[in-house]
Amino acid sequence: MTKIVLDVDTGVDDALAVMTAALSPDVDLLACTTTWGNIDVDQAARNTHAVLRMVGADDVPVARGAEGPVDGTPPRFSGHVHGADGQGGHADTSYAPVLAEESAVELLLRLSHEHAGELDIVAVGPLTNLAHALEADPSLPERIRRVIIMGGAFLAPGNATPSAEANIANDPEAAKRVIDASWACTLVGLDVTMRQMLTEEHRARLAAGGEAGRYAARILDHYFEFYRGVTGERCAANHDALALGVAAGLVDVALAPEVRVDVDTTRGPSRGSTVADLRGMHRGWPAVEGTRHRVVLEVGAGFEDAMIDLIAGAA
Ligand code: BDR
Ligand code: CA
Repeated sequence: MTKIVLDVDTGVDDALAVMTAALSPDVDLLACTTTWGNIDVDQAARNTHAVLRMVGADDVPVARGAEGPVDGTPPRFSGHVHGADGQGGHADTSYAPVLAEESAVELLLRLSHEHAGELDIVAVGPLTNLAHALEADPSLPERIRRVIIMGGAFLAPGNATPSAEANIANDPEAAKRVIDASWACTLVGLDVTMRQMLTEEHRARLAAGGEAGRYAARILDHYFEFYRGVTGERCAANHDALALGVAAGLVDVALAPEVRVDVDTTRGPSRGSTVADLRGMHRGWPAVEGTRHRVVLEVGAGFEDAMIDLIAGAA
């Protein structure tokens, strides 16, 4: 079992990642830390706890984290993608979540001591919480086994801007600190997440399942409409659950070279872009000395089906 702390800004695809993490026998979900991003941090915490309760996992601690980017600029949310409530209009906005007394940073730091050397952090929102945790305790990377980030676009175009992916673009300064830190860091970006689409057939299987499956089918409806504008078809990228799946060994990773990655924090048109040194592709990816970054560029099929079965089959 992989011990995981999942850092989320619970929109639609985050909700699927939360459900998958809570339901998978391969994951020991120690906590969810929440951040601003798709919606404000309070709604993210509310959605996260509500989804955990739906799959019978409301004993997993949920902690409230950052309200906005590390540079103090006001947060901008993605209601057009995930709905104003982050759940395509289906969240219970009056739901009172039971939250941890510790902040996201406090909880993460405590768990890093209790599970030193064994803990993976899976971050699927802006990287603000992790940047704050590094600032609070620069020795954190020594106790973390691996950080897996849903973020970046390497050979693929961006989604927030022509070249930047949303989780990085939302807080480039935080992303740079996290990606520059001394831990092993795997990036699961748009190169693979935009090729692992959820379809109407998946949604129908969810709709025929239990409470969690039916809820997932409902929230995906709004997300599918957004992706119709992107791809011309009703479907959706399975961004966040794919990163969770990579962390938990549930995804067949076919190509993930170790290369250096940097984040553009300049104010120009490529702000928030991830720059990976992929020049080794012409030489069969020779080893690069000293790098700690792994960029997932190709995955095999099969994870989506397994994820749908898991969620649809939940009681
Ligand atoms: C990422 O941005 C968010 O909208 C999604 O939840 C995902 O984490 C994809 O770029
Ligand atoms: Ca997310």
